[in-house]
Amino acid sequence: MNDFLSCQSLRVSIIGAGNVGRTLAQRIVEKNLADVVLLDIVEGLPQGIALDLMAAQSLELHDSQVTGTNNYEETADSDVVVITAGRARTPGLSRDDLRQINAKIVVNTAKEAIKYSPNAVFLVITNPLDVMTYLVWKATGLPSHQVMGMAGVLDSSRLQSFIAMELGICTANITALVLGGHGDLMLPLPRYCTVNGVPITELLDRTTINRLVERTRNGGGEVVKLLQTGGAYYAPASSACLMVETILRDQSRLLPAAAYLSGEYGLTDLYLGVPCLLGCRGVKQIIEVTLTEQEKEALLISADSVRKNVSLALENLGMV
Ligand code: NAI
Ligand code: 2OP
Repeated sequence: MNDFLSCQSLRVSIIGAGNVGRTLAQRIVEKNLADVVLLDIVEGLPQGIALDLMAAQSLELHDSQVTGTNNYEETADSDVVVITAGRARTPGLSRDDLRQINAKIVVNTAKEAIKYSPNAVFLVITNPLDVMTYLVWKATGLPSHQVMGMAGVLDSSRLQSFIAMELGICTANITALVLGGHGDLMLPLPRYCTVNGVPITELLDRTTINRLVERTRNGGGEVVKLLQTGGAYYAPASSACLMVETILRDQSRLLPAAAYLSGEYGLTDLYLGVPCLLGCRGVKQIIEVTLTEQEKEALLISADSVRKNVSLALENLGMV
């Protein structure tokens, strides 16, 4: 086509063309949100996925382009860079076990991607999520609001679906909020979960709520145990897609995200899951909800664990 007639489309680069990366690519193009560049270290893999997704274009009736590549130059001028590169969990491998393996991968991919997309918002998915988000922030040198991690949307949607199943009520009627690190110490907040405004504490007894909270904490592990070969990817991709859409369309949605804390919730210099207003430049504002003493304590324990793992990761990488 004549260059004079072509326009610049929105562009999302996804680093890592595995289960989460490729499913996210599919969600983004099928919603016509942006063109997608899918990058992986394995030669042929992102190109093959891209070709396959493009072949579905006329059937799914979208006009977004998918490009597969092993070369960061092709990610240039992305509006959003999503990092999914790294190992996924397999049985017996905790998110924190992944730290050593994934830290190097994530730092390298972030350093490469930022060279070509210095203005992008970076969305991190690789586990352990809160630690990797911190490393991406360090590696890119971006303002902290331009880097965030996806986990709270997923954890909250899992709790939403468990409440819906328990009550036999449509999931769309349910709101749920999960804060803290993406791990066994995450903090589901039943007081902030409602069915169309009615607190679930009025609809379910304490024992049932505790059971759903525990199931949410183990939500990722439950899928890993069933699949045996890897982790969840449909709900993670949907969660990331919602965040990408919010950023691209500057929607100011209030979503839980791993955001950089500078005093909010009494915590500094770490990324942790908190409610945020998200928009085109990333995290617009962190919202501080009131917590009980017990909830504050639980958030501090979760934060301590993330902080310890960030220190270990920085030490291993020689980034201190
Ligand atoms: P996967 O194994 O299917 O895909 C990972 C991909 O990363 C592979 O295609 C691999 O070749 C690629 N890769 C590895 N090193 C690379 C490098 N240096 N450069 C580019 N690509 C590289 O794994 P899956 O299921 O897609 O999960 C990806 C990550 O996301 C895992 O760490 C997983 O634990 C995490 N995850 C996090 C969630 C969250 O809520 N934050 C939810 C689901 C997964
Ligand atoms: C999940 O929660 C593995 O962190 C991933 O599904």
